[in-house]
Amino acid sequence: MDIIPFLPLKAAVIRSHLNERLSNIPLHLFLEVDSTNHYLKNLPLDTDTHICCAELQTQGRGRFGRNWHSPEGENIYLSCRQVINRSLSQLSTLSMITGMAVLTALKNCGIHQDIRIKWPNDLLWNDKKLCGILMEGIIVSETQVQMVTGIGINVNSDNTKQLLSNRAWCSLYDITGRQFDRNLLIAAIINTLMKFVEEFLEQGFSTFRQRWEQFDYFNGKEITLMQSGHSIHGQACGINDQGQLCLRDKTGHMHFLWSGDTTSRGADSS
Ligand code: BTN
Repeated sequence: MDIIPFLPLKAAVIRSHLNERLSNIPLHLFLEVDSTNHYLKNLPLDTDTHICCAELQTQGRGRFGRNWHSPEGENIYLSCRQVINRSLSQLSTLSMITGMAVLTALKNCGIHQDIRIKWPNDLLWNDKKLCGILMEGIIVSETQVQMVTGIGINVNSDNTKQLLSNRAWCSLYDITGRQFDRNLLIAAIINTLMKFVEEFLEQGFSTFRQRWEQFDYFNGKEITLMQSGHSIHGQACGINDQGQLCLRDKTGHMHFLWSGDTTSRGADSS
């Protein structure tokens, strides 16, 4: 049986595809690390933007304290640390902007399948999760936050052969039937993410809100949101200017939600 080895991660290749002004960005590349987010959170504080990626994570972490399955050599485990001169409360929409940046980068790399963003930031294809994002903000002062953005994308995993395979997950390979050079995807994501964050800091969230509709997985769907032990059920009606999810319950009352674990009943049938 032929085994096609995946192309390894190479700092020089990533760097050569970064926009010129990012070409000197500190890039921490590991064969193995506990978690790329954890590594960047523990780096001494400075004002540089740092990038960390790894072939394997031994303790990959997801939202809500979950683990992030991080097998060797197949996928992207990428984190970025930026010091941002805003208060943490002004940065709640960054996770959505990150999701939009990842999806835009994938499209720019020629992946045009109908991938959507499940609020606030999961990327889904055919109701299956392709990418998860974990944002961790550390308050430096009232007006400064150290933001660590962690991005996990299933790239070359063949989901039909994985032990952990289940219908809820997919990879770019599953979607396209192609294998990808992760170095090129990582460079495209960093380029787009830096551009989007800059645009957000200069102009705010409103242009992203206008673009959100084309990415919105939930729009019009019946969903249930779990928040601090209780659930809210209703129809998703997009997001507002603050990036809150708008959910109309059966009495017609509109809820505006900052966070929560969401499931959609229509997911399997839509
Ligand atoms: C989620 O639960 O959907 C978020 C998953 C985030 C996973 C990424 S992989 C790179 C970075 N390092 C981690 O430990 N987690 C994030």
